[in-house]
This record gives sequence, C-alpha cells and structure tokens, in this order.
Amino acid sequence: MVKVTVCGAAGGIGQPLSLLLKLNPKIDELSLFDVVNVPGVGADLSHICSNSSTSSHLPSSREDKSALAESLKGSDLVIIPAGVPRKPGMTRDDLFNINASIVRDLAQGIAENAPKAFVLIISNPVNSTVPIVAETLKKNGVYNPQRLFGVTTLDIVRANTFISQKYAKETKATDFNINVIGGHSGETIVPLYSIGNSKSYYDKLSEEDKKALINRVQFGGDEVVKAKDGAGSATLSMAYAGYKLAESILKALTSKGEEVVECTFLNLDDSIKGAAEAKKLVKNLDFFSLPVRLGANGIEEVKYDILNNISADEKKLLEVAIEQLSGNIDKGVAFIKK
Ligand code: APR
Repeated sequence: MVKVTVCGAAGGIGQPLSLLLKLNPKIDELSLFDVVNVPGVGADLSHICSNSSTSSHLPSSREDKSALAESLKGSDLVIIPAGVPRKPGMTRDDLFNINASIVRDLAQGIAENAPKAFVLIISNPVNSTVPIVAETLKKNGVYNPQRLFGVTTLDIVRANTFISQKYAKETKATDFNINVIGGHSGETIVPLYSIGNSKSYYDKLSEEDKKALINRVQFGGDEVVKAKDGAGSATLSMAYAGYKLAESILKALTSKGEEVVECTFLNLDDSIKGAAEAKKLVKNLDFFSLPVRLGANGIEEVKYDILNNISADEKKLLEVAIEQLSGNIDKGVAFIKK
C-alpha cells in the first residue's frame, strides 16, 4: 500500500500535481491537505477511475491539528507545494517569513505523524525551506537526510527544453537530461551543458548565445510570471517537475536493479555515500543540488564526481552559486533557531 500526501493540494501547483499523482498506478491512496477549497478538489479527483482512493482534509480552525494528522498518518511520501503568493505591499522577507512558518508547521506535522516518509519540498524559497524542514525534523529526533528532497527538477526540465528549442529541427527536449546543480533560484542554478550529449550542441553556440541560454534557465520562472501578468508563477510545469521526481522515487522503491538517478537539493550529510566528498567540493555547504542515485532508502549515493568534470566557465558559475546559497541556507537555519 503506497500512500502519498500533498500539502497545499488546492493551489495552483497542488491541483495539477494531485491530478498527475491520481493517475499513477503505483499509488494506492492519495491524501489531499489544504487550508482552503480542498474538499472540492478531492471530490472532483475522486471520480477519476484510477488505481488510488482519494481523501481530502481541511482543518476546521487555525488551531485544528487533527486534519493534518489524519492526512499524513501512514504516508510514504509527502509533497509540499503549500505557500502564499506575494501580495502588493509585501516584501520578499515578509513572504519568506510566511512560507517558512507554513513549511515549519507542516514539517512538525510530518515529524509527529509520518516520521519515515519521503518529503519533497516545492514551497519557495527552496534553498531556505529545505534546511527549515531538516532542522524541524532534527529537533523532533526523526530526521533522515536520505529522505529529504528539495525539488529542483523544473530547472532540469527547462534546461532540456531550452537547448532543444535552439536545435528544433534536429532535437527534441526528451533527447536531453541536463544535470543542473546548485540551488533553485536565479544564479544559484547551474546548468551543466558541457557534460553528456548536450555538449556538442552547446559548444556550437556563440559565447553570447551560451550566456543567454544559461540566463534563461536561471531566470526561466520570470518568463512565466511576466506572461501571467503578475497573477502567479509557474504552476503546471512545476507540478510536472514535482511529479517527475515523485515518480522516480516511487520507481526506485520497487526497482529491480535498474539505476534511478535524479538531481535534487539535498543535505550533504556524512551518512550519505559520497556526500562528504561533495561537501568538500562546494566549500562545505550543507545543502546542494546534485545528481543522486535513488533506492529503497531514498538517496543512496551522491554522484559528486560530476563536480570534477565541469568546464572553466561552469566553475565560475559555481563560485557565484555557492556564495549566494550559503546565505540562503543560513537564513533557513536561523529562522528555526531564533
Ligand atoms: N497548509 C497547507 N496548505 C496551505 C497552507 C498551510 N498552512 N497555507 C497555504 N496553503 C495552500 C493555499 O491555501 C493554496 O491552496 O497552499 C496553496 C498554494 O497555492 P497557490 O497560492 O496557488 O500558490 P502556487 O502557485 O501553487 O505556489 C505554491 O510553490 O513554487 C512555490 O513559490 C511558490 O511557494 C509557492 C508555492
């Protein structure tokens, strides 16, 4: 029996993500939690004739913790796209404090009700919210770094799509699987086009086009915000990306010998194979996105070797990313410790 819970299931990301999960034959129970509108979303999805049952959970008041507890109990995988969008007059810090509190409270719920679950964080800023979840689970004595994932998959999805658009006659987005390392905002995002089958295409670009391509991956989210005229950020592509990582994790749980590798923003904790080596290569950062091998226990190995094979230009991007990430991670940790 596989149970998956989505926290923030009624939102712009949560709804399409829940639909994709509803269609996955590996899932037996889909549990939806939100603080608004979730009964409607749940009733709608529950009519789909797929493998899983659907339940929805709405707290009756701010103080009611039982709906979250019920939603999480027995979950194998919890995905969190809960948050609030930035409203007029709100600073980035205001937004950070609100989303950080939401994520912390949900992590507390996970610690109490589903301490062994795999936890996937979508709520932004991922570079800070993932450390917040780690610290909260640690405080509760239930932390397993192998099971905590910051979803950076949308950066990979964009990197694949954007290079294929440059070679539309010869390639499709599905021809590529670019490693994107670092973090999940702006210049912390480092696409490694110089590795694998993208290299020959990337090398053919002019220096100007190379820069523009990297910049497009780093700031791709802004294209969506602009096109939506300020009404929101990426939801459908983000839902797809979150689903893709969840699908790989579910696949790895039942994989018979087949290697499943995905990039994810993880805690470079000594207990994970290859994490100590990775940490040395990224100036001792505690969290970083790298390709990892997934297995029954979650993150089984960090593929750190990739850091030894990057180009001189990518090294420069990495320097900038490390500098910024350090502040983002500290901000998350400080939020919990204060
Ligand atoms: N518990 C559960 N759900 C919550 C909570 C909470 N404490 N607080 C808010 N939510 C729900 C909202 O009710 C809403 O349904 O989270 C959902 C968020 O949906 P949207 O406002 O539509 O935002 P969305 O575009 O989906 O983005 C969500 O993901 O990419 C990030 O930056 C984005 O942090 C944001 C998050």
